[in-house]
Amino acid sequence: MTLCTSITGYLQELFVGIIIICLVGLSHIQLNLDSEEMCACIQCMAGSKEDPWFAEHYKNRVPKLLSRQNSELHPNTSKWWQRLQGGPSKKNYSAVVETLFSLFPDEEHYSDAGPHRCRTCAVVGNSGNLEGSHYGHLIDAHDFVIRMNKAPTAGFEKDVGSKTTHRAIYPESAVDMDNSTHLVLVPFKILDLEWLISVFTTKHITRTYTVVKSTIQVAKDKVMILHPEFMRYVYEIWLQKQGKYPSTGFMMLVFSLHICDQVNVFGFGASKDGNWNHYFDKRYYHFLNTGVHRGSAEYNITLKLHQKNKIQMYKGW
Ligand SMILES: *[C@@H]1O[C@H](CO)[C@@H](O)[C@H](O)[C@H]1NC(C)=O
Ligand SMILES: *[C@@H]1O[C@H](CO)[C@@H](O)[C@H](O)[C@H]1NC(C)=O
Ligand SMILES: *[C@@H]1O[C@H](CO)[C@@H](O)[C@H](O)[C@H]1NC(C)=O
Ligand SMILES: *[C@@H]1O[C@H](CO)[C@@H](O)[C@H](O)[C@H]1NC(C)=O
Repeated sequence: MTLCTSITGYLQELFVGIIIICLVGLSHIQLNLDSEEMCACIQCMAGSKEDPWFAEHYKNRVPKLLSRQNSELHPNTSKWWQRLQGGPSKKNYSAVVETLFSLFPDEEHYSDAGPHRCRTCAVVGNSGNLEGSHYGHLIDAHDFVIRMNKAPTAGFEKDVGSKTTHRAIYPESAVDMDNSTHLVLVPFKILDLEWLISVFTTKHITRTYTVVKSTIQVAKDKVMILHPEFMRYVYEIWLQKQGKYPSTGFMMLVFSLHICDQVNVFGFGASKDGNWNHYFDKRYYHFLNTGVHRGSAEYNITLKLHQKNKIQMYKGW
């Protein structure tokens, strides 16, 4: 009799246990169904929706890079983009886009977020605070290393690393790249798109508002174009329309939040002694006290992302 009750009790417990395991299992499946938000890192960028400020700013549906398919611009974007260019353009955007993607890869890039991905990004600014930092190895250990404009690595490897997977430029800041580096064009105007075409074809564009390189060394299959829709998103949602337009560094920071699961930021802000200079240039630039520099709107947002543990900022001191 007692044996029987205890067996029944045992079975009951077992049954309850199985039900609990089933429920836990189900909730786990539920979790995986939402897994567009998840990744294989310890902490995931896209999954970090629990912070209301971050969730309000982070819009995953905004196109990041231009393709034929997503090239149509929202009227608001057209307007904003035209204002940047100093008024409406007589140029035919659709025709330019058509030519672009007859030359360059027409793909949907980086739509591979998911439970099996853990991609790390290093966004490397140009601040003098990199000098003597010995961050080189740390920076090179990232999957993606994103640099801006003319920032060199040769001669500075110990502090800034030697790997560059992406380099964001516009015609006026273009430099040669080795064939493992993606050129990410930041188009402030239609002429910038035409310049990119010219570089790989006729090489006839030698001036924008200033003299530009008519040709650069870049692997054609590595060319990418930041979407004007993304640029407006960074300006209106992240910057709340402060300033005229976002700096290249800040655009690449937000870009990396969207293509990587973990983001580390190097070389933003002033150096230890409060000076504004580039690691590759000893002159002090007081005009640098804009963009992603201390006290600016962009710097404040970068700091907030750091404080909320969405990115790690490496200050070099
Ligand atoms: C476009 O601009 C109008 C007027 O400023 C605004 O009311 C609307 O919400 C904007 N739409 C989008 C999608 O940004
Ligand atoms: C612009 O170019 C597209 C594609 O080449 C063409 O279909 C369209 O008619 C052009 N629009 C104007 C206003 O020229
Ligand atoms: C890339 O550049 C390296 C070094 O210059 C060269 O050896 C290699 O063949 C190039 N690869 C391609 C695909 O062009
Ligand atoms: C950035 O933050 C500092 C310190 O909180 C503040 O004094 C400054 O006004 C902020 N700058 C902008 C542009 O919001």
